[in-house]
Amino acid sequence: MLKAMLEPKSIAVIGASRTPGKIGYVVLRNIIGYGYSGRVYPINPHANEILGLKAYPSVLEVPGEVDVAVITIPAQEVPKAIEDCGRKGVKVAVVITSGFSEVGNVELEERIVKIAREYGVRILGPNIFGYAYTPRNINATFGPMEIEKGNIALISQSGALGIALMGWTIMNEIGLSALFSIGNMADIDVAELSELLIEDPHTRVIAIYLEGIKPGRGGEFVEKMSKVTREKPVVAVKAGRTSRGMRAVASHTGSLAGSDQLYEAAFKQAGIIRAYTVEEMFDIARAFAQQPLPRGENTVIITNGGGVGVLATDAAELTGVKLLDPSPQLIEAFKQTMPWFGSPKNPVDLTGQAVVDNYLKALKVAVESPEVDNIVILYCRTAVLDPRDLAKAIVEFYEENKVEKTTVTSFVGGQDAYDAMRYLNRHNIPSYSSPERAINAISKMIWYVKYREAKRKK
Ligand code: COA
Repeated sequence: MLKAMLEPKSIAVIGASRTPGKIGYVVLRNIIGYGYSGRVYPINPHANEILGLKAYPSVLEVPGEVDVAVITIPAQEVPKAIEDCGRKGVKVAVVITSGFSEVGNVELEERIVKIAREYGVRILGPNIFGYAYTPRNINATFGPMEIEKGNIALISQSGALGIALMGWTIMNEIGLSALFSIGNMADIDVAELSELLIEDPHTRVIAIYLEGIKPGRGGEFVEKMSKVTREKPVVAVKAGRTSRGMRAVASHTGSLAGSDQLYEAAFKQAGIIRAYTVEEMFDIARAFAQQPLPRGENTVIITNGGGVGVLATDAAELTGVKLLDPSPQLIEAFKQTMPWFGSPKNPVDLTGQAVVDNYLKALKVAVESPEVDNIVILYCRTAVLDPRDLAKAIVEFYEENKVEKTTVTSFVGGQDAYDAMRYLNRHNIPSYSSPERAINAISKMIWYVKYREAKRKK
């Protein structure tokens, strides 16, 4: 049933508007503009045509089947629209409209759920900005039209933040497979959506901005999410950690934030990786989306700067990343890649004199050595090596050699280091502005592999 959202043959917009700027106009414009190739039906009793498409007075008048209906009409008219959807055989109603339990209008929300259940319609929302599924060019939101394509599915309980993140992900080269706004979760909830994504071949990791789950649903949440994390990593930010934050949640989405310790325990039990900021959530999700899962724990740091090497070493110790103690043979091999005053142990310090060739030689040694499972590449701005040249060379090396070892990078410096990171991120090599962020991301990947192995053995 929910699968209809990922592969709808047709989408209706109930409340498609003729007026540019209105939500019902923007949703229709985004569906058409982002390139959805199925049938699109604007529903509006006052219009014959909207954005070049024939409009229908009611969803019941549409000649063909309607899989998904996006609803953008005022709250008091939604029950009738849901009933029409039920009679039409619509599978999922995406209710963008606000004015339900989040403002105390619980009865109206219960009414639409009751009608939907009578007919077997599922409801996403209400009080949401819509949803998107990029492999099928579906953007049924009133956010920006463009969405960067990729392998991260984002589920957001906050609408405005979700919309903001649509633009932010583009700016930060973060590609999305799907984007779901869940709002009041009157029917479809975060766990069910996560389950839906288990089978989705385009989603490698699920990122969640969560404010709270419905009271009494904790056990079910843990059970369902445990099933999901056995197959795919889930990274979540749980907002409303403090008592004032919890009060803010209550007046935002109407959900109960609950005690933070309870969420901490539930996440642990369900194998959900907890992030404490949205930035951290995407740091971790990016690594999972772009890199193969670690095949083991032994990690090597390759750097041209002692300082960043030490910071990374500390971060590794603190996050449980096992730094390899290289064998004498491996030390000897690394020695050949650097000036005589470099350090061939781990961190492998190529020194500030390092040029592209030193990095490539050291990388070759690391990639070919059976002792090394994961690689952390660090770069500190020096006068002898332009980070953009290094970024290009790394990408070429990884693509030519089809490198399968989990790799993260961090480039520290000014605009040119930033450009280099963007280039790496665009080419599936996760890059971060500090060594700690890179190490944190890989630490969560290593943790996840161990968690999953232990779970699967049970
Ligand atoms: N069936 C089909 N179309 C209908 C209709 C119905 N029963 N009732 C009205 N319409 C048409 C209207 O004629 C209008 O089209 P027009 O502009 O061409 O005349 C369009 O649908 C929208 O209806 P309108 O009454 O103008 O509503 P609106 O655009 O002012 O507000 C919402 C509708 C849903 C946007 C508003 O009620 C709302 O909930 N806003 C908040 C949304 C939000 O923020 N969600 C959470 C985000 S995180």
